[in-house]
Formats: sequence, C-alpha cells, structure tokens
Amino acid sequence: MKTRQVQQLYQQYILPTYTQIPLCLVKGKGARVWDLEGREYLDFFPGWAVSGLGHCHPAVVNAIKTQSRKILHISNNFLNLKQARLAEMISKKAFPARVFFCNSGAEAAEAGIKFARRYGHAAGRYEMITMKKSFHGRTLGAMTATGQERIRSGFGPLPEGFRYAELNDLESVRRQVTEKTIAVFLEPVLGEGGVQVATADFMRGLRKLCDENNMLLMLDEVQTGMGRTGKMFAYQHSDIEPDLMTLAKSLGGGVPIGALVVHEKLGSAVLTPGTHGSTYGGNPLAASAALAVFDAIRKEGLLKNAQVMGQLLAEGLEELKSRHAVIEEIRGLGLMRGVALKIPGGPVVDKARAKGLLINCTQETVLRIMPPINVTRKQIVQALKILEEVLCGIQEDAAVRV
Ligand SMILES: Cc1ncc(COP(=O)(O)O)c(C=O)c1O
Repeated sequence: MKTRQVQQLYQQYILPTYTQIPLCLVKGKGARVWDLEGREYLDFFPGWAVSGLGHCHPAVVNAIKTQSRKILHISNNFLNLKQARLAEMISKKAFPARVFFCNSGAEAAEAGIKFARRYGHAAGRYEMITMKKSFHGRTLGAMTATGQERIRSGFGPLPEGFRYAELNDLESVRRQVTEKTIAVFLEPVLGEGGVQVATADFMRGLRKLCDENNMLLMLDEVQTGMGRTGKMFAYQHSDIEPDLMTLAKSLGGGVPIGALVVHEKLGSAVLTPGTHGSTYGGNPLAASAALAVFDAIRKEGLLKNAQVMGQLLAEGLEELKSRHAVIEEIRGLGLMRGVALKIPGGPVVDKARAKGLLINCTQETVLRIMPPINVTRKQIVQALKILEEVLCGIQEDAAVRV
C-alpha cells in the first residue's frame, strides 16, 4: 500500500476532525520515524508529546511485552498491583497523593473538574478559573475549561461555571474570583497556547490566592509532566505544590493513560465509590508502561538530559533569532520550546518536514519544538541546521518577492 491509498481510505472512512499531514508513519525508534515509502524523519514533536522517551523505547516495549503475557486488563473493582505501584511512584515523585487513573488528558481534566465541584458542593461553590489560550482537552468539561473561543464555538450550551483570566496577571485572576469559585486550573507552560511559561512569581501568587480563598490549585501537567521541562513536573521549577494535578501523554510512553493526582491533605472523602470511574483507567498494561517510563527517566538520567539538551536547543534557537528577523521570540522551558514568528508558521513546518524534520505550529505563528527527552546533541544540531536552511529559504523567497 502507498500513502496515496491510505489517504483515499481516510477520505472515505475517517471523520475529518484533524488537519491532515500527507505522511503515513509506520515505524519509529527514538527520535526517528519512517513513513510508508521508507523516508526517514527526525521527530521533534513525537506523537503530540506522547512519545516523551522517543518512539518504541525498549523499556516500555519490554514492559508491555512482559505484562501482555500475564494479564492485559482487569476491572477496577479488583486490586491491580501495577496500578497501586504506579500511584505510589507518582506520589513519591510529586507530592503525597492519591491517584485516579483514566485514559487521556481530557478525562484527567474531567476528573479534576468533578473533584473540584464535589469538593465545593456543600458550600455551593463550583466555579473554576482557567487561563485564556489554555488547552485542557476536547470533552465538554475540558473543552469549556479551555480558554479558546474557537475550540468551544458551536457546541453550546456548555457547562456553566468557567471564567477565564490572563496568564501571568494575578490581578486578572483575582478579578474572576467570586464567592462561588472553588478552583484555579492552569498549565504551568501553555502548550497549545503558544508555549507561554507561567512565571514562578505568578505560581506563587496563585498559591497564595487559593490559600486565602480556600480554593484548589489544579495544574495541567499533561504536556509539561514526565521530565519535559527538565524537572519531573513543571511546577517543581517554582517552590509551590498544587492541590490537584492532571497527567497523561508521555506518562504511558505511547500507551493511553491519564491520571488525576490529588494531594493527600484533601483526604479520600470527595470522590467516593460510585462517584466516578473509568473502565480501562490504569489497567495492568497501561500502568506497566507508565512504570517503565518512570524507571527509564531515573536510570538514564533523563531529567538532566532534558535540562542540558533544552539549554543547547534554546541557545541554538536564540542564535537563529539573531540571524533571522522573522523570529520574534524564543520561549519555553527545558525541551519544550516555542519559536514565535512574525509570519505564519504553517509553511515553515511544511518546509522543515520536506527536509526531514517534524515540528508543530500552534496559535498560527508559534513553532512548537518538543523532542524526546532522551534526544542527543547530534540530533539537536541536525534539527537546528534544517531550521536554518528553511529560514534562509524563506528569507530568499521574501527577497525575490521584493
Ligand atoms: C495541556 C493539555 N491538557 C490536556 C490535553 C488533552 O489531552 P488528550 O488529548 O489526551 O485528551 C492536551 C492535549 O493536547 C494538552 O496539551
């Protein structure tokens, strides 16, 4: 079969909810992927940030293989050894916590929204403040929490009780607080929102605001978690702890798993038997994969690698900025970097792909670059070289047009 034939199947049988890149990826190893015709690419946005350890990391593959010979799935009424160990691991790496497992980032957000609402129920408090340009997923609750009108539009009536504030503007958050507010929910680095970093000052301010008003601070670490920013979780760049945290994406290293992590100080009386659930959530297969991800991060020193390679990438991008006037700003943390352009980013992404580099564009003009956290120096240098060539090409095109 050829890519063209797969495209035809898509046209006939797949609902067109995604913008389509005409590339059929069939194999991956680390930061590299291959398409159906055997072309090789350097993948600096692996699986929308799911493949944080790169494609087919041997530890994840082996964990899946071993577990699948024992048992794939059990119902959540039974004790699940792998799920219990994974919850313990998350609690040790983050903060003392109890964990609810699900299958995706949106479901983790839904669990958090439900938790917050039930927590505030007796007092009639249910409102949640989220950030403009945030992204929390596509289910009704997560989508309504998402501070982007273009994502919510056409799906009304939406659940009530969501209010939107500006990132890094504590006053704007304060203005949204009412006697009904129960939680503030945000990404420590807005991913889809253009790689905007919440400052440590802002995080500290939010923690204080939440404490003063008896509100929950909930962090969406779906994209920033699992070492992406050089710490296991991005909030660890500041000196605060959240009350709730959502995880997904690279938690499972490619296997679908999500989690709502609830600080142990909130007790276990909010979501009680029968109030929430997920058939697949944290099943032995997914939990084994996630345990392998934690293990690999520790054994291979990947937090350090994300810091060092993140710095190398940031410096390289800053250098590109000094030579290319179309670059407005370099943003981000660790291996989560954004290149804000003064021109549309789509054509840059397309040209990079044609030269063998996969990256993403968000908010129309921001290139999002998130290589696996085990990326090598050589791969970063190669990616920067391709970006340089693409930007030079764009400069030449502009010169010809003038
Ligand atoms: C920060 C953040 N939260 C939540 C989600 C939703 O995750 P999922 O697509 O697994 O539902 C995403 C997906 O891109 C995300 O980036």
